[in-house]
Amino acid sequence: MAKWTVRLARAGGKACAHSACACSDRRPAYGVRRRWPPGRRCLHGAAAFALISSLIFCNAPSSAASESEDVTTALTLAGFLRAARTVISENQSLINDPEAGDKGLTGAVVLEKAKAKFREASGKDPQSVDSNSREGRLLSSQMAAVVEVMDENQTTINRKGLGFKGFVPAVFARLVNERFRAKAGQEADIKVTAPRRLIRNRKALPDSWENGIIEEKLVLPDWPKNQMYTAETEKKGRTAFRVLLPEYYGQGCLKCHGGPKGDIDVTGYPKEGGQLGELGGVISISLFR
Ligand code: HEC
Repeated sequence: MAKWTVRLARAGGKACAHSACACSDRRPAYGVRRRWPPGRRCLHGAAAFALISSLIFCNAPSSAASESEDVTTALTLAGFLRAARTVISENQSLINDPEAGDKGLTGAVVLEKAKAKFREASGKDPQSVDSNSREGRLLSSQMAAVVEVMDENQTTINRKGLGFKGFVPAVFARLVNERFRAKAGQEADIKVTAPRRLIRNRKALPDSWENGIIEEKLVLPDWPKNQMYTAETEKKGRTAFRVLLPEYYGQGCLKCHGGPKGDIDVTGYPKEGGQLGELGGVISISLFR
């Protein structure tokens, strides 16, 4: 969590008025609609900093609180998705085992393991999130999505005599995000996307705003590792607070996404020729206002 920092895009490239503001982003942000009202200045140095030590807020005071809540909510959802995906990843050999029948990876079991992973990674107890808050409601929907996806895939996962079953973390995450959308799509959206040239499943294609930020910021060698990008923009005709969290190829990813480029991997897709440490994906979260 501490590694994540925020760069908040400001409307129309308007500079923050605070003398100590570290925001260097002076270029017009993609699709950012909000304008700074006259007389409003950035709230640097105020309570917004309590959230993450390295958080950079340049914004109108009236919306700073809701923005800090939005960031917290987005990080919780991204963190829980990552936690659940890690559980699948750690059980990949078990899932792929053609001899084992019942793997014991029910929805309830995976949920408990994911909660533990989330606690471990973030230091935050998911149980401590107020279930009446928006963060709590969305997290509950996400947890329910995890449980349903696991329960619905028991036949596949427990099938004897078949090794690789196609149930890999990325597929699991997509199914969870689709189910989350069905439950909470009016309020929020979670998607795992990537630079266009790396996309396998068309459903994961970045939209034009995501693509713009990915290509003009996140892929650049000087973009700080793991630094998220946030902005208030319009999405599907609604105002949304959007967060993009970069993810990088680790060694384990390269057996499918690495080289030689074009060779077919175990899942049947041509490998992308990705490099260790390269931007391989982006978790994209939208919170509708
Ligand atoms: C066993 C092979 C395999 C491994 C290992 C693997 N992936 Fe994938 N990845 C896939 C498949 C298959 C898909 C398409 C999933 C789908 O149908 O939605 C995918 C999709 C993705 C996507 C979504 C965008 C898209 O192309 O559809 C991202 C991002 C991604 N992988 C990143 C990673 C990262 C990062 C790692 C390592 C932590 C990793 N993958 C490890 C097979 C793999």
